[in-house]
Amino acid sequence: MQTFTTASALSEALAAVRRPGDTVGFVPTMGALHRGHAALVKACRLECDVTVASIFVNPTQFNESADLETYPRTPESDRALLEAHGCDFLYFPEVDDVYPDGPDTESLVMNLDYGTLTDRLEGAHRPGHFAGVVQVVHRLLQIVEPDVLFLGQKDYQQVAVIRRMVSLLDLGVRLHIVPTVREQDGLALSSRNRRLSPDERLVAGKINQHLGAVAAGLRSGWPARELEQLAIRGMAALPALKPEYVEVVDGHTLLPYQDGDPVEELTVLTAVRVGDVRLIDNRIAYRANPS
Ligand code: PAF
Repeated sequence: MQTFTTASALSEALAAVRRPGDTVGFVPTMGALHRGHAALVKACRLECDVTVASIFVNPTQFNESADLETYPRTPESDRALLEAHGCDFLYFPEVDDVYPDGPDTESLVMNLDYGTLTDRLEGAHRPGHFAGVVQVVHRLLQIVEPDVLFLGQKDYQQVAVIRRMVSLLDLGVRLHIVPTVREQDGLALSSRNRRLSPDERLVAGKINQHLGAVAAGLRSGWPARELEQLAIRGMAALPALKPEYVEVVDGHTLLPYQDGDPVEELTVLTAVRVGDVRLIDNRIAYRANPS
């Protein structure tokens, strides 16, 4: 694996290896890599001729400075994981290289019309978060110019927002969404999990159980709002769990699902504080066209 700290050096190296007809796949990350990221790299390797990953803790998508400061940084084991899974190129820049004009520069991409996708759920709880996400993903796509972008289903709303950006700007990159990788008790893998105490880790496994119950209830025709309330009350009753929201949504608009509405994808999303750590997760209850 070749590592580059500047966009110009990476672009040059990519141009040198890219043969006509080659497919370049890109796995953007913020480091602190785990088996979920490994699944993205594996999917990329299977589908693409060239695999590029990035590690960049993007400051502009953190709405809480404490979250940015405590975000785990494990460069050595990250490099080892990428290497072990056959990643070809790693972009590992400093802030100045990603944002030569400064991170606070407003960009066109931050002001596109994302409709209902950015103002609810994570958008409401983390003001400015998605503006930072689209800013950095757009910049990374300009640098890497991939054919396929690999993202994890765990960040369901992020996927919807990036999909919209790619479509509005006609960027010509295909999205490949990789299912969430879970621990044995169902906890979705997340870089933030390593900040959980042993007791918090134990109880965090319950989040997925509650989402599973909501998804099963929806498939049996239970009212969505009742299921949401049951899950919120069930989680809030557990020590250290503070659910911020549990919402059943139309997977395309991310608007609240109204019972009986015909939707192509029905998804329950949650954000839960476990002690000081904020975790998100989701379960797709129904999909009209499973791929
Ligand atoms: O999902 C993430 O890790 C980040 O939001 C991403 C896509 C790498 C952008 O910083």
